[in-house]
Amino acid sequence: MRKPTELEELAARPAPGADEVAGTFVREPHDQLASESDYERVMANLSFGVDFTDYMAHATWTADKGWHNKRIEPYGPLTLDPAGAVLHYGQETFEGMKAYRHDDGSIWTFRPTYNAARINMSNRRLAIPEISREDYLASIVDLVRADARWVPSDEGTSLYLRPFVFASESFLGVRAASRYEYLVIASPSGAYFKNGLQPIDLWVDRTYHRAGPGGMGDVKTGGNYASSLLPKVRAAEAGFDEVLFLDAATNTNLDELGGMNVFVVMADGSVKTPALTGNILPGGTRSSIIQFLEAEGVNVSEETISLQSVLDGLDSGDVAEMFACGTAAVVTPIGRLASEDFDVAVPVGEKTKQIYEELTAIQLGHAEDRFGWLYKIADA
Ligand code: COI
Repeated sequence: MRKPTELEELAARPAPGADEVAGTFVREPHDQLASESDYERVMANLSFGVDFTDYMAHATWTADKGWHNKRIEPYGPLTLDPAGAVLHYGQETFEGMKAYRHDDGSIWTFRPTYNAARINMSNRRLAIPEISREDYLASIVDLVRADARWVPSDEGTSLYLRPFVFASESFLGVRAASRYEYLVIASPSGAYFKNGLQPIDLWVDRTYHRAGPGGMGDVKTGGNYASSLLPKVRAAEAGFDEVLFLDAATNTNLDELGGMNVFVVMADGSVKTPALTGNILPGGTRSSIIQFLEAEGVNVSEETISLQSVLDGLDSGDVAEMFACGTAAVVTPIGRLASEDFDVAVPVGEKTKQIYEELTAIQLGHAEDRFGWLYKIADA
């Protein structure tokens, strides 16, 4: 049996319930809530991450007070000095989570303690002060309760939550800042890829890497995503949906996509995903899929996967399917892999769809929550 990762162990520790942490972020008055017509227009037309709710969670860190001024305030622009450290040296971390409306109208989220542990792993790497898991949970609970009307209920929709921390001290020296802001914003969202469960085409990039040994590839910080943008622009110009990055050390093994992990389904029913080498984000969706497949007796291995072995496997039929996964992308089939010297179709089959359905059934309360991953935020 696979040994749990440190994040999985931290996430599994008993956590306070929503009512125990609620009220930590104090709700401020809001006199400009979205009008009923604006609300209806947004909810009738959900895309990903373009519309935002009425409120946001916000706290500030200073050396003398730690995290303080924890509030739920009206969503809106921030005031940031042009010398604010994050604008110059990118000292920031973030997370991605979702709140789901279940059939009875109640609101839930999925493995929030995993995200709480991971933002602190990211914070440690970026020399940012940690946030207690109680405060992290409270920020989610208090924001979602304030914004409850924005949690959609149609299949494939959710309230996407984006917690983030950034250095707000004004100075130009290169050092860890002495002031930080923590925020959570929320966006009622539909599918990340506009075609939903349609397969995506990947460009395998051999020129650029998103992260290298000893870098920041295993934590969630804007710089990793910034480094993926130029390759993504080039790939999009050539008609591809996403980029598959190879490892920076050898330029031969699969790492991950710009913002998603990658899985390979073998014809014998086993499933593979690149091992967590330090360059790869330990995705919560990745971890969940590994755990439920293993529990069902599927042979899942986390290993070095060379690009050549995938191309050979596609050629011989040993590789049956491939998919990408992440909080935003959920489980998305991969339909094509191409680079300068190859362009191959990847079969799209039932296994990916089955994994998507199993995962979303747990998240939506349609399947038994046998791993204790659901966290109730609010009653109907
Ligand atoms: C997520 O999946 O939540 C992320 O943060 C990745 C990003 C591509 C949206």
